[in-house]
Amino acid sequence: MYKNKLAINGGPKAIEGFEGKGEPKIGNEEFLEMADTWGYSPETIDEIRQAIDKEDLGGGPFLVGYKPQSKVSQMEAYAAELFNVKNVLAVTSGTAALHTAYVAADIGFGDEVIVPGYTFMATAMAVVVAGGIPVWCDIDESMTIDPNDAEKRITPRTKAIAPVHMSGRVCNMDAIMDVAKRHNLMVIEDCAQACGARFHGRRIGTIGDLGCFSISSYKPTGGGEGGLVMTNDDKLHWRARQWSEGGGLWRPDRYALPRWEGELFCGVNYRMSELAGTVNLVQLRKMEAQLARKRTNKRRVLSALPVYHELQPQVIHDIDGEHGNDLGFFLETAAEAERLVSVLQAEGVGCSTRGRSDGRDWHIYKYMSPIMDKLPATSNGYPWRDPKTGEETPIEYSPDMCPRTLDLLSRRVGVGLNQWWTERDCKQLVAAMTKVFDALYTRDSNYENWLEAVTGEMVKG
Ligand SMILES: Cc1ncc(COP(=O)(O)O)c(C=O)c1O
Repeated sequence: MYKNKLAINGGPKAIEGFEGKGEPKIGNEEFLEMADTWGYSPETIDEIRQAIDKEDLGGGPFLVGYKPQSKVSQMEAYAAELFNVKNVLAVTSGTAALHTAYVAADIGFGDEVIVPGYTFMATAMAVVVAGGIPVWCDIDESMTIDPNDAEKRITPRTKAIAPVHMSGRVCNMDAIMDVAKRHNLMVIEDCAQACGARFHGRRIGTIGDLGCFSISSYKPTGGGEGGLVMTNDDKLHWRARQWSEGGGLWRPDRYALPRWEGELFCGVNYRMSELAGTVNLVQLRKMEAQLARKRTNKRRVLSALPVYHELQPQVIHDIDGEHGNDLGFFLETAAEAERLVSVLQAEGVGCSTRGRSDGRDWHIYKYMSPIMDKLPATSNGYPWRDPKTGEETPIEYSPDMCPRTLDLLSRRVGVGLNQWWTERDCKQLVAAMTKVFDALYTRDSNYENWLEAVTGEMVKG
């Protein structure tokens, strides 16, 4: 009788437990698959297998954020300290970071964002996806946004400027912030190609309202796919969090009513995976050393290279802040730039120019057909057309709207520098360049060396 008494009334529980015992959902096999991705030999993988099979993983890793051991949370905290910024949000890519930042900045239908004509297309595409309109502006001799031209492109509809720190260079952030302040605009920095660079002591991405980073394998710091959004503004940060994770796992109680006005709105899921977070935590730890190696070699080359009348050095806004991926200068014509590149390459110097080439390229505005031809994802034409009224937004794109950008790109020569070069490698490069330049051009004795020409610093080579 007692046996049949319901447990709720004090009888014995019908189920005390089950015999079957499972394995962790994510365990050694997944770990070993990663070892294979890393490229270890079958013999090494076998040794790793023997070593790790002895471990009891319990339930195994869950590979999800918001746990004390979450690598993504650790990476966000580490980045906040490294960049000296209040808030860091990890997302799935640099494009996702831009999309998130534009939404956080409340860029929406009818709002214009000024974007340099030389960038990767994502800077402009993400404006469109957010519902805004990208407006191209020219770059200057720094190969980054021209603050004067950006100012000329401002209209009553302009809401933000998106300076892009291209190829490890840094924009003139003082001038950009000045324009933005005078016109009451937001500044959303695209730092995808220059993670860790500084402008006058401050990390880029922490000077404007929001900073967007790509930390994918193609970028100086990063592995797999990933992005970061940084801001010192709490409100922008919480808007970015809600957008990038509309399901609300980031909230202490995800189903709670809004804790402040505007906390909740419809969003997506751009949450970074734990695997990407793991790799990128280590990548960020390596960042400073990488930057130091790059800057050392750039200084070695620039302080030993003479200056020539026919070669106009590229403007550098912060010699010790930028990455220093290459040494850039301009020839008088695109044909001259092409000729010089052939001569340098014959000596073994790694260099390139766009020259007179008219090939399609997602880094030059005139080839970015999804923008130039106003091609949104939906057939109603939004955001270039108001779906309700059918009215077109007052923006026209034409291939010649940023002539200076096209001119500079065609005449620029970039000589690649390498962080791993020894002092001897740097001297070898300088000797090769000097051999070619002395044969073709005349030295400019006003300067001791290239470093003095670009910085005004008197440094003996
Ligand atoms: C300037 C710039 N912005 C944004 C992105 C987009 O980053 P991701 O490829 O991580 O989406 C890139 C990537 O190449 C980039 O170079």
